[in-house]
Amino acid sequence: MKLRVEDMAIAFENKKILEHVSLQVAEGEFVALIGPSGCGKSTLLNILAGVLQAAEGCFYVDDEKVEGISSHFAYMPQSDLLLPWHTILENVTLYGRLHHAKKQAQQQALKEFATFGLAGYEHAYPKELSGGMRQRAAFLRTALCSADILLLDEPFGALDVITRNDMQDWLLTMRKELQKTTLLVTHDIDEALYLADRILILGGSPASIVKEINLHEVVKSRDWLFTQGEQRKEIYSLLRGESHA
Ligand SMILES: Nc1ncnc2c1ncn2[C@@H]1O[C@H](COP(=O)(O)OP(=O)(O)OP(=O)(O)O)[C@@H](O)[C@H]1O
Ligand SMILES: [Mg+2]
Repeated sequence: MKLRVEDMAIAFENKKILEHVSLQVAEGEFVALIGPSGCGKSTLLNILAGVLQAAEGCFYVDDEKVEGISSHFAYMPQSDLLLPWHTILENVTLYGRLHHAKKQAQQQALKEFATFGLAGYEHAYPKELSGGMRQRAAFLRTALCSADILLLDEPFGALDVITRNDMQDWLLTMRKELQKTTLLVTHDIDEALYLADRILILGGSPASIVKEINLHEVVKSRDWLFTQGEQRKEIYSLLRGESHA
């Protein structure tokens, strides 16, 4: 399914955060949204997920206007939000259980534990997992939600660089299997370059999309990433410039 955001605006306590934000994500496309801290990235995802309401503008899934909480989106918020008193299996099937299909949800989830690098931890509690495993569990929960569009808010933000790179490699592989329309929020330039078909840079105050980088034709690899000095520099100066605006 495709996503279209049109002329979105929101303010908090009379301070405009987002204004004239328009973007599109095509069916199956993976778009990274990058911007300085505090510019409104999570706010935008919260609006799409129906947690917040925009003051202006609207958004469409497959040309149908969406209002409030919609089953089109699977949202992975910035913190992993695993419930500490539930096992990993219970956590990842939370959405399924909310819809009264516990057994079916658990059977489906159990098949995915190995793919997500969580085999053997089905009945462990979140505190027994490493940071990377917790993020994978939160990601599994998001992926199991039978929604068509993934909204990922800095899914690897809290990880050390080695674990983060491993997770990015893993997500690049998963992308092909999941084939889902994805909007990924990150402040990591390399992560955006490595994972995305297209990068949108959010900047200014109030923030809007200031630049778009198309990477559809690129075959991604770590070696390719190492050659992207100029591109990285350009994004960096845009982010830095806008963050001082
Ligand atoms: N519910 C809220 N009430 C008031 N202000 C808010 C609320 N949510 C966000 N803000 C403010 O809006 C701005 C944007 O916040 P947001 O969390 O969207 O930024 P972000 O781009 O996701 O930052 P980061 O990269 O640090 O996660 C910030 O100044 C924040 O303080
Ligand atoms: Mg955020």
